[in-house]
Amino acid sequence: MSDQTAPSSTDQTLANLLKEDRRFEPPAELAAAANVKADAYDAARADREGFWAEQAERLTWDTRWDRVLDWDNAPFAKWYVGGRLNAAYNCVDRHVEAGRGDKVAIHWVGEPEGDTRDITYAQLKDEVSQAANALTALGVGAGDRVAIYLPMIPEAIVTMLACARIGAPHTVVFGGFSADALASRIDDCQAKVVVTADGGYRRGTASALKPAVDEARTKTDKIEKVLVVRRTGQDLSVDGEDGWDDAVDVWWHDAVGGASTEHTPEAFDAEHPLYVMYTSGTTGKPKGILHTTGGYLTGAAYTHNAVFDLKPDTDVYWCTADIGWVTGHSYIVYGPLANGVTQVLYEGTPDAPEPGRWWKIIQDYQVTLFYTAPTAIRSFMKQGHEIPDRFDMSSLRILGSVGEPINPEAYVWYRHVIGGDRTPVVDTWWQTETGAVMISPLPGVTAGKPGSAMTAIPGIEADVVDDEGNPVPNGSGGYLVVTSPWPSMLRTIWGDDDRYVDTYWSRFKKQGYYFAGDGAKKDDDGDIWVLGRVDDVMNVSGHRLSTTEIESALVSHPKVAESAVVGASDPNTGQAVVAYVILRNEAGDGGPDIVKELSDHVRKEIGPIAKPRQIMIVPELPKTRSGKIMRRLLRDVAEGRAVGDTQTLADASIMDLISAGQATSTED
Ligand code: WTA
Repeated sequence: MSDQTAPSSTDQTLANLLKEDRRFEPPAELAAAANVKADAYDAARADREGFWAEQAERLTWDTRWDRVLDWDNAPFAKWYVGGRLNAAYNCVDRHVEAGRGDKVAIHWVGEPEGDTRDITYAQLKDEVSQAANALTALGVGAGDRVAIYLPMIPEAIVTMLACARIGAPHTVVFGGFSADALASRIDDCQAKVVVTADGGYRRGTASALKPAVDEARTKTDKIEKVLVVRRTGQDLSVDGEDGWDDAVDVWWHDAVGGASTEHTPEAFDAEHPLYVMYTSGTTGKPKGILHTTGGYLTGAAYTHNAVFDLKPDTDVYWCTADIGWVTGHSYIVYGPLANGVTQVLYEGTPDAPEPGRWWKIIQDYQVTLFYTAPTAIRSFMKQGHEIPDRFDMSSLRILGSVGEPINPEAYVWYRHVIGGDRTPVVDTWWQTETGAVMISPLPGVTAGKPGSAMTAIPGIEADVVDDEGNPVPNGSGGYLVVTSPWPSMLRTIWGDDDRYVDTYWSRFKKQGYYFAGDGAKKDDDGDIWVLGRVDDVMNVSGHRLSTTEIESALVSHPKVAESAVVGASDPNTGQAVVAYVILRNEAGDGGPDIVKELSDHVRKEIGPIAKPRQIMIVPELPKTRSGKIMRRLLRDVAEGRAVGDTQTLADASIMDLISAGQATSTED
């Protein structure tokens, strides 16, 4: 990998970070009663496998494992070898069997005000059983893949658990993704059933989902059945077609509503595939990250308990992530439910119908543990403290952050305005690939530093290394690596073992380290500050997007000859997409609406989340003599800096042309 220099904006951030000397000690009461105390680090280090065996005891196993870890065929891991369990049983049935059937599992809050539903563990068990029976009747067996394309409604959780219950790996596709993105994921993992809804509520309007599934069906022939939840009741017809195919489409309320609530969960091997989650990598094709059952569930349950100091009898937990991202998998579904929590699930946008909606939900449900993303915190900061100040959020005791580096200002605002200066903030670093939190403060142990994810949690070993894989000294930066295997690690990339080895394990092959793709610094105390991606992956509002994926989308437009996409730092979204486009000769200047045309095209191909903030039509792109685009220079332009070293450019005058063009570029 060349061109790995972290964008210089992160250096500027770092300069700020290093001046940061505020510390927040854990509240004494919390520290005294903490689930995990300081001694856990050493204990885990002294006997790693013993530590992870102990964590696996959180789950109910049908058959106990005979070996904690098989790493003989590294980097292909097997955890809890010989163990058998059912993930859905662990998340639902066992709580009912333990007499907690009347406990609320989910306080669901729909976006339209007053549209709420409380679901107990006993009710969840019935619904999951019904959905498991319905999926089986639709022909889904153990090992078959099911795609889930749903809004944030309880049926999303029910479907995931129903799949787990029958051993059918699910792949949840974010509802904001387009029909093309949905089709390519379905195609890649060969999902035969899609579970969707007529639509969902976003900012007060019913937004359709089912038509995208119909469109996806024109692009892939894998789909045999489509199970449709009636959420909004909106008309399904598009362009005169009635939007319903009796041979394929089935209503949820018929198939699931009519199914039996009796279903016996079968135990699966600890390494049975649980789900595939697609995420962006450095090439155009999204990677299907495979997680399996025993290790993943252990990791999700342990970290949720440790990092949030979960007290299941008294806490009310709320994670605002969408079910379509890994955070929704590990910290809405599998971790919290395995731990038997009561949690809030919210369908809509943070500011609908009014800007204080989130804070009102915290007040109404007396939320104690709250987990969200820096991008949301920053957008609330812009609105000021007056809105949150109107609500009583004194129930909160721990705040979490995930998805991107949290800048110290946002951290301090979060702690002060939302947490009333009482709550520790846990800045949790992890990835789709890691399955669970890896680096984070422990709320009862760590004196938090605003902006730092601090240290690897007990049981996890991470480091920051130089190009050769040697640990950097305190006070220096390098690459973030995980130095030993962990239970919730990805097992492979779906259908592509070579790409798995290549992407994650080849960079520091000699040492056998997992390379996460992030840059980081160790401060003078050895605490870790994650700086962001060092590869061609952007992080927009906490969501990973690959530059190549957007470039491929742009190049698929008939007027585009070539394109280069970079992530430029953005005060609201962390990074924003900036695209440089060379038009084909026959397209002339592209016409007056070219920027909008291209922007709409990206939106259609990938989804609104990938829409460029800025598109610049340029005559040429800066390339090295070997033809590699020098993104570093394009980032300089996008971030309004003087263009850096152009010595390796094949034609140095190109940057003058591009920089000059910048002044007249069009913002969409
Ligand atoms: C970034 C989301 C800094 C990082 C769970 C990582 C973070 C990518 C943090 C994974 C954090 C996530 N501080 N950066 N606390 N959390 N990241 O797969 O670049 O959607 O590699 O998983 O988000 O994004 P993913």
